[in-house]
Amino acid sequence: MQLPKAIHELEFNHGTIYGEEEIAAVLEVMKANAPSTGPKVKAFEEGFAAYCGADHGLAVTSATAGLHLALIAAGVGPGDEVITTPISWISTANAAAALGARLVFADVDERTLNLDPVSVATKITPRTKVILPVHLYGQCCDMDALNEIARPRGIRVIEDCAHAAGAEWKGRKSGTLGDIGCFSFHQQKNMVTLGEGGMNTTSDRGLYEKMLSFRSLCCRTYDPKGKYLPIDESVTPMGMRYWYLDFDGVGFNYRMTDMQAAVGIVQLRRLDALNARRAEIASAYNQRLAGIPGLVLPYVSPDVKHAFHVYGVLVKPEFGMSKEEFMWKIYTEKRIKVWSHYMPIHLTTVYRNQGHGEGECPVAERLFQEYVSIPIHPRLTEEAIEYVTKSIRELAK
Ligand SMILES: Cc1ncc(COP(=O)(O)O)c(C=O)c1O
Repeated sequence: MQLPKAIHELEFNHGTIYGEEEIAAVLEVMKANAPSTGPKVKAFEEGFAAYCGADHGLAVTSATAGLHLALIAAGVGPGDEVITTPISWISTANAAAALGARLVFADVDERTLNLDPVSVATKITPRTKVILPVHLYGQCCDMDALNEIARPRGIRVIEDCAHAAGAEWKGRKSGTLGDIGCFSFHQQKNMVTLGEGGMNTTSDRGLYEKMLSFRSLCCRTYDPKGKYLPIDESVTPMGMRYWYLDFDGVGFNYRMTDMQAAVGIVQLRRLDALNARRAEIASAYNQRLAGIPGLVLPYVSPDVKHAFHVYGVLVKPEFGMSKEEFMWKIYTEKRIKVWSHYMPIHLTTVYRNQGHGEGECPVAERLFQEYVSIPIHPRLTEEAIEYVTKSIRELAK
């Protein structure tokens, strides 16, 4: 049997993520000895924070690291509770678990798959320290409702913006909708920094300084005026005690390199165009997949500008097969690698071992039987879009 050309060939034959500008930026940094956290990181942090409308940006090695720093800054520790969604990459929960906090999974909204504020409200206890919403697939959560629950109780809101660079809620950018935003620039994200990377944003000076300190081992030094400061490698203090280092906490090395930041600066300039292309592909999918019985296309709230990191559909029984059959058939018969974002976190072995399990989030558990992600990224060709939609229509017959 002649197998059709694999979708990943159709996708990846069409250019690379990086262009000449990124290549030139990398070479420039190499010629400057490719430092760790240097002037390019500083410029990237300022540029990204300004793009979002936040006062501070803190470049990190990944969103996993960024989430860890954010929860440290929020003061999360053993005995505290962190409320989050079960439908996310496991990093979201791990950041809290690593600090000894108890994970409390609230259920999701049926249409957006985002954290449901009504369920969150039922999970609040005197120990709730942080609400950790994830802007799933690039669509912002109902941040008004979540902030209304959190603010009067002094609960911090930390946005997981891994999918949501450039996304908006009521005209405001993700990363400015809570106390801290945590972005990922991993290879598959809407903007990327050489494989891995991330950025935290905040307009709270205290939170920023705490994250800055923990990013670099809680190392402190003296500035020329003798002020005891967290070390920031982009500024070299030259006071008399230029050599003096102290450490006032158990911190980490989560520093981004200048090489990554130089690429990030270029990618940030391209972000709106990259997201516009994602939106164009989503709209082509919406048109060409409309009207297939049992295939529910993504719901987009009128309050958001969606970043379409993922294009997620629901495969209902009326489609004529289960989600699992759909995923297997489209992979083996059509050579299209679809995915299912994500295995609900409370059903993973590690969280089952901590006492979580079925029945905790019934809506998420039911939707897990149905959600499938269709390939979407800015380099997807017209040929690939047509092939994907035609293949899904054929399976639906
Ligand atoms: C929702 C979400 N949060 C956090 C992360 C972690 O990001 P990183 O890979 O940069 O650590 C991811 C990664 O895919 C994610 O999808």
